[in-house]
Amino acid sequence: STGLITLDAGYKNTGSCESGITFLDGEKGILRYRGYAIEDLAEKADFLEVAFLLIFGELPTKAQLDKFYTDIKSKSVVDDDVRKIVDAFPKSAHPMGVLSSLTSALTAFNPSIVNVSSEQDMYNSVVKIMGKFPVLVAWALRKIQGLPLDYGDNSLGYVENVLKMMFKQPNQEYVQNPIIVNALDKLLILHADHEQNCSTSTVRIVGSSHAGLFASISAGISALWGPLHGGANQAVLEMLEAIQADGGDTKKYMAKAKDKNDPFRLMGFGHRVYKNFDPRAKIIKAAADEVLNDLGIEDPILDIAKGLEREALSDDYFVKRKLYPNVDFYSGIIYRAMGIPTDMFTVMFALGRLPGWIAQYREMRLRNEPIGRPRQLYIGQNHRVFKTVKNR
Ligand code: SDX
Repeated sequence: STGLITLDAGYKNTGSCESGITFLDGEKGILRYRGYAIEDLAEKADFLEVAFLLIFGELPTKAQLDKFYTDIKSKSVVDDDVRKIVDAFPKSAHPMGVLSSLTSALTAFNPSIVNVSSEQDMYNSVVKIMGKFPVLVAWALRKIQGLPLDYGDNSLGYVENVLKMMFKQPNQEYVQNPIIVNALDKLLILHADHEQNCSTSTVRIVGSSHAGLFASISAGISALWGPLHGGANQAVLEMLEAIQADGGDTKKYMAKAKDKNDPFRLMGFGHRVYKNFDPRAKIIKAAADEVLNDLGIEDPILDIAKGLEREALSDDYFVKRKLYPNVDFYSGIIYRAMGIPTDMFTVMFALGRLPGWIAQYREMRLRNEPIGRPRQLYIGQNHRVFKTVKNR
């Protein structure tokens, strides 16, 4: 009745794991963080509360939340030498490559981060990366835009501060737009954790060797970058823009997606676990309407996306394969309305997923789990006798 899946005894070291952080039911479209429904959290909580819940297991009291944010702010300074690494990247660098490199580089500037033998050490690591990561996210954007790197303003809230570091133009007053702040807060909550997906499994397996938190998260960022995973939100927008350039010919792209000789996939559709609907996609689709309406933006791309969804949901190929819009299908439309460039969409996914990666790393380390060691089914050659090269 609790939906617990009993794993056979052999699961240890096979890459599967027990976790008490996030529960998914792919058939019923249920997603819960520490038992709380994603619908409630997205509507009633803010991102930092949800980060605290995921990482420490309980919704924080006001005092706990205030202390958490105070500790995060106290560790949000990024060593000025990191800027030299940012400067060394070409402006053409993909921001996910910049983010993954800078996150790993943080270990060099915070060597003690590798040792998390006590709860206090772990807490210090948590607040350090929660404080520094948003700065790296903002610097990745400023780098590709050729803008001076901005620093945070600790008088602002967590999400407001991210937007200020990303968008404040030199010598210009930056005014927070509450519509954008609330929309980003909701998007980050919806991306915060998702059980043992590709990037989270990467963080856990890298961390299981007792590599540090920053190094493990850097590996997770690289896994998330792939277009089959978090990189899909960028691929969705590029696909929708291609359809728009093609006169909105959605049927042509549907045919391509069904053509087994064509590598094209309908990006933002399908999921390894959700075989009914992705509850996050439903919330984001409604939020896309709201945000564009509140911002007074008429974006034909949203209509193309809705048209594509309508067609796919009545197309036998997609219905038979249980392919529905996933979290990445509508999220890019909101990021675009916020003025975030397309190749920054997956960076925003990483910003949202950070507390989930931290929570999963912390759970694995505090439970002292064994090093990850998936086994294989060997399908290669049987034993063969060696021949020297002159006899081959
Ligand atoms: C995320 O795991 C997570 O939780 C991930 C995530 C998270 O929060 O961490 O939810 C985030 O990564 C969401 C997924 C984002 N990726 C995309 O939108 C890329 C497009 N989607 C597909 O590439 C695909 O659906 C995957 C990668 C998501 C799932 O891949 P699978 O498991 O290989 O797909 P499947 O086994 O369900 O495929 C079954 C059939 C196959 O056809 P047949 O061999 O049966 O004829 O459906 C086809 C697939 O070819 N198919 C698609 C398709 N997705 C699957 N055909 C066209 N377009 C698609 N999008």
